[in-house]
Amino acid sequence: MNHEIVEKNLGLLVVLMVFAISLGGLTQIVPLFFQQETTEPIEGLRPYTALELEGRDIYIREGCVGCHSQMVRPFRAETERYGHYSVAGESVWEHPFLWGSKRTGPDLARVGGRYSNDWHRAHLINPRDVVPESKMPSYPWLQENTLDGDHTARKMEVMRGFGVPYTDEDIAGAKEAVEGVAEIDALIAYLQHLGTVLSDRR
Ligand code: HEC
Repeated sequence: MNHEIVEKNLGLLVVLMVFAISLGGLTQIVPLFFQQETTEPIEGLRPYTALELEGRDIYIREGCVGCHSQMVRPFRAETERYGHYSVAGESVWEHPFLWGSKRTGPDLARVGGRYSNDWHRAHLINPRDVVPESKMPSYPWLQENTLDGDHTARKMEVMRGFGVPYTDEDIAGAKEAVEGVAEIDALIAYLQHLGTVLSDRR
């Protein structure tokens, strides 16, 4: 019996198991590469401005992704709290993705426009000034450090290499757009844009 041959031959069993699992994985994953929905930007999506891009790098540097996801799942409890669930077309120009998986704090995928810039400033400098029970760390240095913009244009060129549609003018004006700006303002510009393209359309 064929089954007995497979069960008694460990090498063959392993090969067939790998084959079966790979086939299952591939049939789920490969079609996604070709579905427009997952590869095309949603209507109205624009690349991050030079300042927002620098803000995003500060978000990465400070490890915000370790406590905050950027992924609203399609469940009622989430959409009621955060807004429209996340769609793939919002993330096509994200390199790397910051979807995260840990929610010590709330999801930030749609935080743009939810608070004022002043609220964010106070909150980042000392979260407990605005949310007394907060466990979020303070980031006071963000208001003292300023951006020099030396690498901003280069970063945008690299993003363009990944397919983000930056124009030559965007890149030429990058340093001027960020030089001398406090890091906290770049981070706030980034936060205020998060998730606004889709929620604007609702
Ligand atoms: C140790 C975990 C932790 C880290 C790291 C962290 N946060 Fe938070 N964050 C929280 C918690 C907990 C809350 C909820 C309490 C509050 O609002 O302060 C929060 C709330 C927030 C909120 C308000 C969200 C809302 O919808 O009310 C924003 C915005 C935010 N964090 C941004 C950031 C940014 C930007 C960074 C990185 C500079 C960061 N957080 C790093 C834990 C964290």
